[in-house]
Amino acid sequence: MKFERTLIEKIRQAQRIVFFTGAGVSQESGIPTFRDGPNSVWQHFDPEVYATVPGFDKNPTKVWEWYWERRQTFKALKPNAAHHVIAAWQEKIQKVTVITQNIDGFHQRAGSQSVIELHGSLAMDKCRANGHSFKHDGNSVFDEHPSCAECGSLLRPDVVWFGEALPDVAYYQAEMDCSNCDVLICIGCSMDIYPAANLPYTAIASGAYLIQINLNSTNLNEVANCNLRGKAGEIMPALWQAVYEN
Ligand code: APR
Repeated sequence: MKFERTLIEKIRQAQRIVFFTGAGVSQESGIPTFRDGPNSVWQHFDPEVYATVPGFDKNPTKVWEWYWERRQTFKALKPNAAHHVIAAWQEKIQKVTVITQNIDGFHQRAGSQSVIELHGSLAMDKCRANGHSFKHDGNSVFDEHPSCAECGSLLRPDVVWFGEALPDVAYYQAEMDCSNCDVLICIGCSMDIYPAANLPYTAIASGAYLIQINLNSTNLNEVANCNLRGKAGEIMPALWQAVYEN
């Protein structure tokens, strides 16, 4: 796989790199993406039912069981080469931040230290009433109504559903990191979901060199400095080799 000289030099000279990732970075681990391809999540599950507050309130057991099944799936699968290369990059560059829309925890499992989870994490639950977060204790799918230890209200997965705001501290930190990076590498993001999709534009506006890795083209194509078309799990190891081993 050949890469442009400029791309290689930009990464070699970078002091601060942001990896901005979406479902595409976990696709080769076996986790379906949300919108593209025949197995995409929202083609099989109605987001109104499974990924909104009214949907949860209408049938908490159904939602809880769906996320329990996803938790089991994530546990059985593992990070792929893209996650591992991203984690390895923190040994090479002064400041590496991973900003992910994913809730699978695979960046952390691959060894990434500085991870901002914009859409929450399936490792956590939160109280439907007071919003306090708790580490998910793995309660079985038959524990249909796990409740808050503080107030007794229902627990829900601590993830961002449609119509909800992103965690403000996480988004603020993500904006700061995107405003102060030399290179932003956007991997496996459809760029359809805001406000997360604003972040690569923040980076460009701040003078960062923007690289996009995706199987398909997205709105970012016309503004990215470099578009690498293909699978993240193949491109990332090849990019590492081009930057550090050639
Ligand atoms: N390598 C690189 N890119 C890939 C790969 C791969 N192996 N497989 C799929 N892609 C790309 C697709 O072309 C698509 O652009 O990854 C992107 C996945 O898009 P989505 O399924 O929309 O996922 P994402 O962009 O993360 O969605 C954002 O939407 O539903 C919400 O909360 C959910 O976090 C999610 C958010």
